[in-house]
Amino acid sequence: MKKKIIRTIGFLKGLILVFKPHLFLNWLRHPALLFSNTISLSKWISNQDKGVLLNDFYSPLRDYDKRYQLYDHLITTLDLSNEKVNYLEFGVCGAYSFNWWVQNNKNSESKFYGFDTFEGLPENWGTFKKGDMSAEVPESDDARAKFIKGLFQDSLPPFLSHTPMEATTRKIIHLDADLFTSTLFVLTSLGSSLKKGDILIFDEFNVPNHEFFAFKIFSDSFYVKTRLLGAVNNYFQVALIVE
Ligand SMILES: C[S@@+](CC[C@H](N)C(=O)[O-])C[C@H]1O[C@@H](n2cnc3c(N)ncnc32)[C@H](O)[C@@H]1O
Repeated sequence: MKKKIIRTIGFLKGLILVFKPHLFLNWLRHPALLFSNTISLSKWISNQDKGVLLNDFYSPLRDYDKRYQLYDHLITTLDLSNEKVNYLEFGVCGAYSFNWWVQNNKNSESKFYGFDTFEGLPENWGTFKKGDMSAEVPESDDARAKFIKGLFQDSLPPFLSHTPMEATTRKIIHLDADLFTSTLFVLTSLGSSLKKGDILIFDEFNVPNHEFFAFKIFSDSFYVKTRLLGAVNNYFQVALIVE
């Protein structure tokens, strides 16, 4: 009986594909994915530790500047201001978040790497168009800071082969590229080098089809376990620690 059911399902699947359903159901793909990812996000949120000190869920209004409260919370609770860290930010644009971290970590041996096309988003994202968010490559008078211009997909592999990073130094990986593809590429490129204590910061985590979806696919595939350190703006900005 079981074999018969499996055979029938296999037959129906083949038949469905013969009818090329994408020709008349393509419009369903985005809302169906959004629906599925929203349910997954809701499940993820309800599994988080409610005892976390910084978490404003649910708050009716979004205040983007709250992300600095989250960074401050990390610096204070993990005592990061004097620790030697490797800070890698993906999506630098005007370097507002990047500069915050440079200014708030005083260890002379820390390194700060900022990756961006500096020519704007490589794809459309919501109401933003490809090329939006372009900016001049920032200048920093702090010798610990370095900017790497180009698509992550081109710049990150050579960077990783030429830049040794001691496993004992904590990595702070700040994902602020907005896009699913960019976020997934970075997470999977860095996945095998993640160590216990490394920190992941997301800037648009609660966007179901983008940063959240990339994080979900990555953590499910790499079996990476993380713990919530803080969240603001209803999980828009989130910080996680690798366990
Ligand atoms: C929201 S902005 C970053 C904002 C910045 N962190 C801040 O606080 O001011 C997103 C940036 O991600 C960059 N970006 C997205 N995908 C990228 C990719 N695949 N390669 C390089 N840069 C990318 C865009 O160029 C854009 O500047």
